[in-house]
Amino acid sequence: MWNPDQYERFKAERAQPFHDLVALIERRPRMHVADFGCGTGELTRILHETLGATETLGIDNSETMLLKSSAFGSEAVRFAKGDIEAFAADRPFDLVFSNAALHWVGDHPTLFRKLASFLAPDGQLAVQMPSNEDHASHSVARDVARELGHAPRISSVLPVDGYARILHRLGFARQHVKLQVYGHLLEEPRDVVEWVRGSLLTDYQQRMSDAEFTRFLDTYTQRLLPILGDDRPYFYTYKRVLLWGSY
Ligand SMILES: C[S@@+](CC[C@H](N)C(=O)[O-])C[C@H]1O[C@@H](n2cnc3c(N)ncnc32)[C@H](O)[C@@H]1O
Repeated sequence: MWNPDQYERFKAERAQPFHDLVALIERRPRMHVADFGCGTGELTRILHETLGATETLGIDNSETMLLKSSAFGSEAVRFAKGDIEAFAADRPFDLVFSNAALHWVGDHPTLFRKLASFLAPDGQLAVQMPSNEDHASHSVARDVARELGHAPRISSVLPVDGYARILHRLGFARQHVKLQVYGHLLEEPRDVVEWVRGSLLTDYQQRMSDAEFTRFLDTYTQRLLPILGDDRPYFYTYKRVLLWGSY
């Protein structure tokens, strides 16, 4: 259900946390990098070049997102279809990276243990995940889903200090864990619906028939817009967890 065109409608806004995450990484020579949930691969290529990495592997389970990745691949930047949870590494990575993807995977204590197991002894882990569940853009989606007889999407993202504890338990000697609020100036409140249609609502869409999703989207829009008010431009606040750890 991932639609790269819808996702990329707010490309610049969605890229900022990626750049903030990359800024946390220590540049080391000859890095082998894995990017989990790489999407179209455009940011994977930028990651590879920014770090001057030797080899970067992007993993994603969406064919539609990966279709675009051929434009960003090279001998050193490869992409493969695969599920994060089922991934098995055939060599250690110097950096395990994931931008805006791990909130789609459950049981984070187990997931992070697995990701850490892919690292070389002096490896680094860098992850960014949305944590905006208490914004009306997300809570109204849950309410409307329940009302229409569908399961609400419950995010697997933990309170931010939980990640500091996970990194500590996994033996990361150094860590940087923060919750950052990104303020996005959207032309009008209705753009919030377009924003979440490219991400959060894809989960609802794939679990509903076309008719059900149309009803869901209409009800969601009618319910959300009065809550957001009439400010133009509309200042959409979006919280994200950024974390980095190194052994
Ligand atoms: C919001 S997009 C982010 C893409 C890219 N990292 C970026 O920042 O532009 C999330 C991506 O995670 C992928 N994804 C979600 N769950 C996954 C899983 N279990 N295994 C592999 N990829 C997954 C989706 O297919 C999607 O391409």
